[in-house]
Amino acid sequence: MLGLFIHCRPGFEGECAAEIHDKAAALGIAGFAKAKADSGYVIFGTYNAGDAETIVQRLPLQTLIFARQWFVLLALCKELSVVDRISGLIEALQTLPCAATQLELETPDTNDGKTLLALCRSLERPLNKALREEQLLSNSNDQNLTIHICFLNTSAAYIGYIPQHNSSPWPMGIPRLKFPKQAPSRSTLKLEEAILHFMTPDQREQQLVPGSYAVDLGASPGGWTWQLVRRSLHVIAIDNGPMAESIMESGMVTHIRADGFRYQPENRVQWLVCDMVEQPIRIADLIARWLVNGWCRFTIFNLKLPMKKRYAEVQQCLALISDKLNAANIRHTLQARQLYHDREEVTVYIACD
Ligand SMILES: C[S@@+](CC[C@H](N)C(=O)[O-])C[C@H]1O[C@@H](n2cnc3c(N)ncnc32)[C@H](O)[C@@H]1O
Repeated sequence: MLGLFIHCRPGFEGECAAEIHDKAAALGIAGFAKAKADSGYVIFGTYNAGDAETIVQRLPLQTLIFARQWFVLLALCKELSVVDRISGLIEALQTLPCAATQLELETPDTNDGKTLLALCRSLERPLNKALREEQLLSNSNDQNLTIHICFLNTSAAYIGYIPQHNSSPWPMGIPRLKFPKQAPSRSTLKLEEAILHFMTPDQREQQLVPGSYAVDLGASPGGWTWQLVRRSLHVIAIDNGPMAESIMESGMVTHIRADGFRYQPENRVQWLVCDMVEQPIRIADLIARWLVNGWCRFTIFNLKLPMKKRYAEVQQCLALISDKLNAANIRHTLQARQLYHDREEVTVYIACD
């Protein structure tokens, strides 16, 4: 079987398929995406041996917006014996390019998938042992591959592998974050995931400097502000809605009741974060204005997606920002991702030099 298995948010298979199609084409690789609505995954079939390998060698997962996790396909096992699944899995794994060092048993992120997690857990130990006996799993080697086995039902699974350096560190690309009880809203998890996903530990230390200033547009009731305050940043919170008393008691927050599209900071700040529910192109334009004017250096913001043409809309918004920054000769890195805690939205991170 030739191609890639890609995990995505259920309901966004079309966007994920369009994106991998475009990115593979940019590498000169043709393929065909198979995406069943609400399945939580996309199969990107390729025509030539080695094409899927080339894609994962040359395309960083981090550059994809709608893909959470992925692997190079070896096989689809459709009729695993429910009394001995391990033999069928071992047989399918004989074509691994070399011994792997990790094993992930997973399911698509759907309600049906959740019912299979107990099966995954029960297979983990015996399969690990059997793979070691077959020398398909070892403690170390140069390539650091992870074997992925994604169960679709109790007798069918997609099987493959991925080099660890180009895969998500989180199983199925899903970070399990605990909601901090003191935070004023569950939205706080979006910004926490964004900080973990987009920034390396060094970047977090260098860019989220205690004592520096951030503006939070659309801040009420304060979940995003809370993430910044807990990192000891001062926050100017812009929203006509109220901020939670607990966050105001920190003494780190100035609440200004104003329109986020009209507000301008008196002094430059390090950070702009923005979670306003607005047309994505208006948000993109606003963010570009902040960066081009040098009002902030780093930003994390959400683009709330429309019902239709969501992939095209994201591309248009990101292009608008990049074009404006390039026209102003502002060197920058830009990453976008539909995070696990995002719903009908994507999150964007931009760092200017
Ligand atoms: C999704 S909520 C933000 C939640 C917040 N990030 C949190 O973690 O608690 C969106 C907020 O944007 C605010 N908002 C929408 N349009 C705005 C505008 N033009 N100016 C300022 N705030 C706006 C709303 O009042 C609302 O509080």
